[in-house]
Amino acid sequence: MADELVTLTIDGVPVSVPKGTLVIEAAKQAGVLVPHYCYHPGLPVAGVCRMCLVDIEKAPKLQIACATQVADGMVVRTQSPQAKSGRMGVLELLLINHPLDCPICDQAGECELQDFTFQEGRPATRYSPDYAKRFNPVEDFGPDVLYVPNRCILCTRCVRFMEDVAKEPVLNVSERGDRAFIGIHSDGRLDHPWAGNVVDLCPVGSLLSKDFLHKARAWELDKAASICTGCSQGCNVTLDTRENIVVRVRPRPNLEVNRYFICDHGRMNYRWMNRGDRIEAPLVRRGRELHATDWDEAFALVASRLRGAGGTAVALVSPKASTEALYFARELFRGLQWSGAFQVVMGEEAPLAGVPNLALRAERAPNGRGAELLGYGRDYAAAVTAAETASVVLVLDEPDIAVRTAGALIYVGTVLPEGARDAQAVLPIANVAEEDGTFVNRDGRVQRYFQAKAAPGMARPAWWVFSELVATLNDGGAGHINTAAEAFDRLAASVEAFRGLSYPRLGFAGASV
Ligand code: SF4
Ligand code: SF4
Ligand code: FES
Repeated sequence: MADELVTLTIDGVPVSVPKGTLVIEAAKQAGVLVPHYCYHPGLPVAGVCRMCLVDIEKAPKLQIACATQVADGMVVRTQSPQAKSGRMGVLELLLINHPLDCPICDQAGECELQDFTFQEGRPATRYSPDYAKRFNPVEDFGPDVLYVPNRCILCTRCVRFMEDVAKEPVLNVSERGDRAFIGIHSDGRLDHPWAGNVVDLCPVGSLLSKDFLHKARAWELDKAASICTGCSQGCNVTLDTRENIVVRVRPRPNLEVNRYFICDHGRMNYRWMNRGDRIEAPLVRRGRELHATDWDEAFALVASRLRGAGGTAVALVSPKASTEALYFARELFRGLQWSGAFQVVMGEEAPLAGVPNLALRAERAPNGRGAELLGYGRDYAAAVTAAETASVVLVLDEPDIAVRTAGALIYVGTVLPEGARDAQAVLPIANVAEEDGTFVNRDGRVQRYFQAKAAPGMARPAWWVFSELVATLNDGGAGHINTAAEAFDRLAASVEAFRGLSYPRLGFAGASV
């Protein structure tokens, strides 16, 4: 049954929203952002900060938009003199004890207290410069969380996250009035596997990530939409880069997959994207040694090995490779008898108790499902055995090469592991932060990730490397693939499970196969 709609006006803009919608959410539909601190769509409503005061016609006094439901014919004004003056008063109270340390605060540039004070605060303080602000020392709350009480505006988002979402209520509001602060249980630590979300939820610089502390100013960061590679859940994330280095991973909302959250394992799983020991040029074997060369020579050599191969080919692939790369790797072996397999590192599962179907999954790879849909199997040991007698073995970004083959070993990867030094050719590829691509999560959701930084040297996306090899094998006749979108279109046109999908169709939120 369709939701019953209610029509109201917000700042003169008529909107129709389902009955029961909060005014603050209805305002978003009208293109109006009501200033707020304690409200967060992923948490229960608290109504404690009073920052979202709005004027509602016929109501005797200002109302908080985060706890007021819409009603038919309601007229809401966020910019009336009364509403603006109410919010200005709230800001003045919030700032009484707030230190003026924005120049050294990690949150500066993405702080909601800065933003709303700039937008609606008083032009100057009415407090005497001699007023001694409240002071409390910084506290260590957990493995990656610092608490700076002086900056806390007591919105209680962190308390509600731990209590209602993580279901581990270790935080509380201690004391009352102007002495209030966020307390941590005497035996507790913020070491829950999803605890890092309190840092994202904190609207000011009161809860900070130790990992990110003083690493960058917010305005120096470039941002790219990506998908976490930490497990098969496929959480949507944003990669923050500074001067071509990934410095932070944060959740990107996707209500179907991770809502507003990511786990700490995924949050910390980025340093490898910045490795300095990358392969920067194609390498081909001349005699006993590997020599750097250009792409044309490398493609010609690999193509000649594949042409002369006959017999069987084995592909040992990484479940962290893009769906596009896995597809074109398979295309390389058209006409050959081939088999392919991947192995997955397993770990402990860690659910986020308050959100259904959201957990750090035991399978610590993002694209096992994609590999399966493309015909790769999970019997890695059998594939390694088959590789020993195969005429070609292709290894895609799988540093744990436990294979000794009588045939030609072709290694395609980001770094050169010891086991790949016997290869006939080594082809350098981009990592997940350096290319566009897709993964398929455990629930069969195909999701795009976007390039966040440049790849080193001559490294190129694996789908490009394989598609060029396919073109070389076909004497260039099959046409070149120039973008990840084209690579995906090829895949969608030939693999039934992906039929009808395209990059525009997937958008930022993905779609199910
Ligand atoms: S620490 Fe941050 S999230 Fe927690 S109550 Fe204070 S301002 Fe809110
Ligand atoms: S649950 Fe998995 S996909 Fe989500 S953030 Fe954690 S490791 Fe990444
Ligand atoms: S956002 Fe409405 S009271 Fe805090």
